[in-house]
Amino acid sequence: MILVTGGGGYIGAVTVRHLLRAGFRVRVVDKFLFGTDVLRDVFNQIEIVRSDIRKLDQSAFEGITAVLHLAGLSNDPTAEFNPTANREINAGGTEYVARLAKQSGVRRFIFASSCAIYDRGLSGNPDLLSEEAPVSPKAAYALSKLEAEEALLRLADERFQPIILRQGTVYGWSPRMRYDLVVNTFVKTAHQRGSLILFCRGEMWRPLVDVNDTARCYLTCLEADLNKVGGQIFNVSFRNYRIRDLAHEVKDALAGFVDVDIEFDDTPQTVRDYRVSTEKTERVLGFHPKVTIAEAVHDIASRIQRGINADFDNPKYYNIRWMELLHAAEEIVRNTGSIF
Ligand SMILES: NC(=O)c1ccc[n+]([C@@H]2O[C@H](COP(=O)([O-])OP(=O)(O)OC[C@H]3O[C@@H](n4cnc5c(N)ncnc54)[C@H](O)[C@@H]3O)[C@@H](O)[C@H]2O)c1
Repeated sequence: MILVTGGGGYIGAVTVRHLLRAGFRVRVVDKFLFGTDVLRDVFNQIEIVRSDIRKLDQSAFEGITAVLHLAGLSNDPTAEFNPTANREINAGGTEYVARLAKQSGVRRFIFASSCAIYDRGLSGNPDLLSEEAPVSPKAAYALSKLEAEEALLRLADERFQPIILRQGTVYGWSPRMRYDLVVNTFVKTAHQRGSLILFCRGEMWRPLVDVNDTARCYLTCLEADLNKVGGQIFNVSFRNYRIRDLAHEVKDALAGFVDVDIEFDDTPQTVRDYRVSTEKTERVLGFHPKVTIAEAVHDIASRIQRGINADFDNPKYYNIRWMELLHAAEEIVRNTGSIF
């Protein structure tokens, strides 16, 4: 049985379904910050442990053969919202889950890290970075992911073999939809206002990968020879895109759905800028992503046309808005007591 932490999230909700289709039994550990509805249609096929990863009980590992660790705060704004909690969850929580896994005899531990670790600020034409490239992230999110990676590598030995995936920014439709990821944001903004907005003239580069490909990468890791891939880091990306070029690709893909203009917003912004090499991932892990931007954009756009996730103002689609809302509500309920 596979333990998936964060199985109620954007990538997790897609991954759980891929695992079930591939014949795996699945136990999901999640705090369900975005609710449990996203897994409703597979409830009777999975086990659910509602828990904060920082307080997870060792019993969650009974019968587990591999861990997919996705739970955590998953972008810059939510990390900056509470950097201390972010570090406790993303770095401390990862180490805690890994220690429990190791104590329970689980060797295979797949970690959803991030290419954000490579960020060095806007340079306009960044080098193609391999997993060996020196990194010194400054932002809270990237730093917490790096600390988590380092903790996993310290724990690595014969009995514990982490596989660290530095994922590019993910795109595509998920039952737990996010519109705060660049491609998905473009599709949403195109429908909402008929335009795509580019900050910093869209000069920055990003590695990008589809959500179904990301799930397939986890399956590859579950089946890979641990002697070859254990204790190693892999970049996961379909292609590196300059955001300006990405905008044109999304605009073209949306032809037939909506007419789109491209607008520039010169308000100063902190943006990430990096390009990664996937040579090692293809050669050693044997993983090749295949879902194009156009395919993912068509999929999201055709769902929007059918009214699926077309309520763009719903704060649930934007992690920072949702977190701010939950935080404000928590404070009110704490002071007033139960509403009824
Ligand atoms: N989405 C991307 O573009 C991307 C890119 C690189 C890496 N990642 C990493 O992949 C993982 C999944 O990302 P996502 O986009 O699915 O994020 P998400 O925010 O949609 O999902 C995160 C899940 O973790 C759960 N969670 C958060 N804190 C928790 C805690 N303390 N205990 C238990 N559960 C908790 C949430 O309830 C949620 O279901 C994250 O670790 C993220 O950092 C994501």
